[in-house]
Amino acid sequence: MKILVVGSGGREHALAWKLKQSSAVERIFCAPGNAGTAEIGENVVIQTNDLPALVRFAKENGIGMTVVGPDDPLAAGIADLFEAEGLRVFGPSKSAARLESSKIFAKELMRKNKIPTARGAAFEKIEAAFAFVNESRFPVVIKADGLALGKGVIIAQDALAARAAIDSMMNERRFGEAGARLLIEECLTGAECSLHALVDGKNYRMLATARDHKRAYDGDTGPNTGGMGAFSPANNFSPELEAQFDREVMRPLLKGLNESGVRFRGLLFPGLMITPKGPRVLEFNCRFGDPETQVILPRLKSDLLELLEATIDGALDRATIEWDDRAAVTVVLASGGYPNKYETGKPITGLETACAQGVQIFHAGTRRENGKIVTAGGRVLAVSALGETVAAARTLAYEAVSHIDFEGCQYRRDIALGAVAAKVVGL
Ligand code: AMP
Ligand code: GLY
Repeated sequence: MKILVVGSGGREHALAWKLKQSSAVERIFCAPGNAGTAEIGENVVIQTNDLPALVRFAKENGIGMTVVGPDDPLAAGIADLFEAEGLRVFGPSKSAARLESSKIFAKELMRKNKIPTARGAAFEKIEAAFAFVNESRFPVVIKADGLALGKGVIIAQDALAARAAIDSMMNERRFGEAGARLLIEECLTGAECSLHALVDGKNYRMLATARDHKRAYDGDTGPNTGGMGAFSPANNFSPELEAQFDREVMRPLLKGLNESGVRFRGLLFPGLMITPKGPRVLEFNCRFGDPETQVILPRLKSDLLELLEATIDGALDRATIEWDDRAAVTVVLASGGYPNKYETGKPITGLETACAQGVQIFHAGTRRENGKIVTAGGRVLAVSALGETVAAARTLAYEAVSHIDFEGCQYRRDIALGAVAAKVVGL
């Protein structure tokens, strides 16, 4: 089968890498891809938001399955468009992807179905949002309703900061139309956990758990990023929590979606906060996480294509998923200045010497220029390693990282450090 992977990040490289291992896969195309995907497949010069061109490419090239990486094309209805053309696609429909593309829609669904989440209120008018924060206890969390490249969440410590955040979203439209409506919610405390579930409309199967490191600098300081590294399994998701998550989140969610006529088929990635009162849903993503995918897929022993097929066909109840018992750690190398302004076009050295048994280097913002691999984005590489323990995986990942260099290279030195002493439990 010929596969088209839509996207250009580390997540897409990891998806293409894992799909390539399936015996049923003949050729892999990536649109638009990066220097890493070009090594295992063929890059196609089509941007992820050019849906008509993607459909045309899939039709003309006999693509058997298209796997969508990022959220934007899903929110724009790529799955509906492909299905209408009789093309197989992995990713939820536009109406199901609203779980991620509208935080107000997700909050309302959670409220109706009694899914534990932060208390919050939705606002369409700036005056009402101002009035609400004047009466609030701080901190509060202010969220743009729509997609904002993971930057649309601001934790405001006082009324002044809250008003500035509201003004920047609703008035200045810092995130464009995504900020036309807001959600203001209570600030929860606890440890976060990234969960991935394949959902076929009726059944779901959990993938291995992971924990992301969202802040740019060591010690969880600095601005929020897309994710600077991850480890798997998460050290805070016990089998008891998994049972609670099934009972309190997944079952009511699937029931609620079905009752409102929405069939979710694809990857659901709830971000959870484990609070002293139990797990709370922070958000729902409708796609694989980045860098979670780069830390989860090296642990997957089963055939990914078969699992994606079972998801599309509503056959997950018959699927078996096998995991490598080893832990995995992923360290992201970013361009200097990321997540703010950064330069690109810097030659990357040491990629070959960094390769070792148990290490996988996933490309994100890279491209090939005059035969050399150079930087082309904020997050440049994700270096993943497997080990018998988190500590061993961490040592191996950082050993590989030590060989790689490019001008301005920035990475965290403390990925998975907090988990080194912890016992591995659960998925
Ligand atoms: P989201 O895009 O909703 O996941 O938000 C991004 C990040 O903001 C989360 O990973 C959390 O670190 C933080 N966050 C979101 N909602 C809350 C909340 N209610 N309380 C505390 N932190 C939050
Ligand atoms: N790493 C978080 C995300 O993919 O949303």
